[in-house]
Amino acid sequence: MPVTSLNRRAACLSLLGGMAALAVPFRSDADARFDERIKVFRLDGDGVTYAFGIDSVGQIQALHWGGSLAVDDPLPAAPNPSDFSGFDRANSVTPLEYVAFGGGLVTEPSLKVAFPDGGRDLVLRYAGHEMTAEGIRVRLKDISAEVHVELTYGMDKATGMLSRSARVYNRTRRPLRIDQMAAATLNLPFADDYELHYLTGRWAGEWTVQKRPLEAGSTVLESRLGMTGSQNNPWFAVGRKDVSEEENGPVWFGALAWSGSWRMVFEKDILGQSRITAGYNPFDFAYLLKPGESLETPVFYAGYSPDGMGGASRRMHRFQRTVILPGAPAPKLRPVLYNSWEATEFAVTEQGQVALAEKAATLGVERFVMDDGWFGKRNNDRAGLGDWTVNREKFPQGLTPLIRRVRELGMEFGLWVEPEMVNPDSDLYRAHPDWVINFKGRPRSEGRNQMVLNLARKEVCDYIIKSLDLLLSENDIAFLKWDHNRSWSEPGWPERPVAEQQRLYVDYTRNLYAILAEIRRRHPRVEIESCAGGGGRVDLGIMRFSDQVWPTDNTDPFDRLKMRDGFSQAYMPGVMMAWVTASPNWVNKRSTSLEYRFLSAMQGCLGIGDNLNHWTPDEFATAKRLIAEYKAMRATVQRGDLYRLISPQDNSPRSATLSVSGTRRQAVLFAFLHSSSKFETAPRIQLRGLEPQTRYAVRAIAGTVADDTPKVASGAYWMNHGVKLPLRGDFQAAACVFDAV
Ligand code: GLA
Repeated sequence: MPVTSLNRRAACLSLLGGMAALAVPFRSDADARFDERIKVFRLDGDGVTYAFGIDSVGQIQALHWGGSLAVDDPLPAAPNPSDFSGFDRANSVTPLEYVAFGGGLVTEPSLKVAFPDGGRDLVLRYAGHEMTAEGIRVRLKDISAEVHVELTYGMDKATGMLSRSARVYNRTRRPLRIDQMAAATLNLPFADDYELHYLTGRWAGEWTVQKRPLEAGSTVLESRLGMTGSQNNPWFAVGRKDVSEEENGPVWFGALAWSGSWRMVFEKDILGQSRITAGYNPFDFAYLLKPGESLETPVFYAGYSPDGMGGASRRMHRFQRTVILPGAPAPKLRPVLYNSWEATEFAVTEQGQVALAEKAATLGVERFVMDDGWFGKRNNDRAGLGDWTVNREKFPQGLTPLIRRVRELGMEFGLWVEPEMVNPDSDLYRAHPDWVINFKGRPRSEGRNQMVLNLARKEVCDYIIKSLDLLLSENDIAFLKWDHNRSWSEPGWPERPVAEQQRLYVDYTRNLYAILAEIRRRHPRVEIESCAGGGGRVDLGIMRFSDQVWPTDNTDPFDRLKMRDGFSQAYMPGVMMAWVTASPNWVNKRSTSLEYRFLSAMQGCLGIGDNLNHWTPDEFATAKRLIAEYKAMRATVQRGDLYRLISPQDNSPRSATLSVSGTRRQAVLFAFLHSSSKFETAPRIQLRGLEPQTRYAVRAIAGTVADDTPKVASGAYWMNHGVKLPLRGDFQAAACVFDAV
């Protein structure tokens, strides 16, 4: 039994013992330089320069973040800081890279600490630096106390993506409480016309694009949920009003790689300087650092694009594919999957799943995933979570016969799990009621009838690793859909001394990452999908351990057009799962054709989630044909450059997206019409990103192109003249492929 062997136990212990060492490594091969004369650092990568310098009092000031400068351009030294008035001291009106609460600071601190004597003044000054393999490490130290901070800078040469994080060391002889800590503060170039783009949402309504001016005062994006959340996603983009558009103008953007509570503060100070501070959410935060201990932040990634919001997203997508995802720089293509959830919900049985698998296989599905309902006493959402053993009433001989049949049919097998949760009605909770996050003697609020296990506790991590390891060792499982269906409440950890209980906010998420890393280490073939009742946990932190994500439980193919548009601002379509499900769809009771549903889903990673027992032979034929088409062009959709040609937002009657392969030998165009009216004719769609001289043949894979469309024309023709897809009716869709000839 592998899980009880001494080796495995030792692995668990060392894993959890070494948790603090779980840094987020970043491959940086940027040009990093330091000009000793003027004390200026700079990082260069893919058309981007980021520069900062040490000023006369030893503060680190931002100097440049934007398009690249020539190597020998004369960057100015950091200016001498000066007070603005008796109310606004220098540190509150200087564009600092990392500023502690102290010395009269009244703006957002990057770091705030409390000393045991009640003192909270911390004033950081330059103490040294190293040029490292990762980029630059700058050391800061308080003016008198032995509190040290290390700022880490890296830049990915291929995308110009900057990485910033910080670590604070307590080298005093007494404990230090960290009340607030950001990964970084980023200062935007001085301008007065910035607009902030961000993403908001809720269950079944994630990925709403928002825009607001960055005016004097602060704007806060955050999660207090103990998880990433969909209310705000930890991503932003800043453009200039009427200057930055979809394909033009400067855009500064970034994302925090953290799946616990987080916060981003956008401030425009009294002099009009805009800055962004992102890191742990200080709400209810406190982290006790004993003498000799340190605390590291997650990484705040940031980029710049001169090519509008589209250019910013393409950089982000490229960065995720080549640096962040498991398998980077060349993650595997996403297989076409079938998922049982909308077909059967909790009523899974061996016979029922085999029947679905046999039908799915005829369509060309490559991975069959059994969703919720297969374990413990899981007949509804009121019981079973925590008991990761097969329900023998539904699967009398375990999972083996089903998996064997799925494999015979030529598909891989995947399984749904929700390892961080427990239902009160479970053997696990009956045995370990103390394993959940709770405040002693207080009610334990439930969400979807479940509670959150305290992953900050070692025995809980051991249990999760042991259960999943057993499941994956005994069964031929290629994929886990890792769900997380509620946020925290009563965030207590009563077993720890009072002063240490709020470490929960850091330790939970670090341990989650460590568990995922350990499962992947022991089972390198197993792929993982991050799901949180939909898109509640999509961020660059969890994506390091997830091959794909579930963006929303909302499978309405029309709603999905807008949600995909929002999702794609920040994250690549090549991780975004999209299932074809029943019509009318359960969310809006909207009816759409099977072809429309397919085309909506084919803009991401294709899955089928309908009950195939209800399909007609015609529907099987359509699905089989479109799945074959998808496989032929999925590399372009999943890995290519995305151009959002016509936005579906703001009640737009139509929308269109284009994916262009890295080699520019193939492009795939999807177009959608909400509803025709008044005999309108559709405008021609001008493509982007093709090679002007290369000749491309067009082929409609659904719908048609206008009669006068040439079969072959130059990239210049398709980009400058365009192509017309005559859509008429309600919820119409067409797609065509352009192949270089
Ligand atoms: C969550 C997921 C769904 C499904 C259910 C199962 O809501 O987002 O896709 O897996 O849980 O309970």
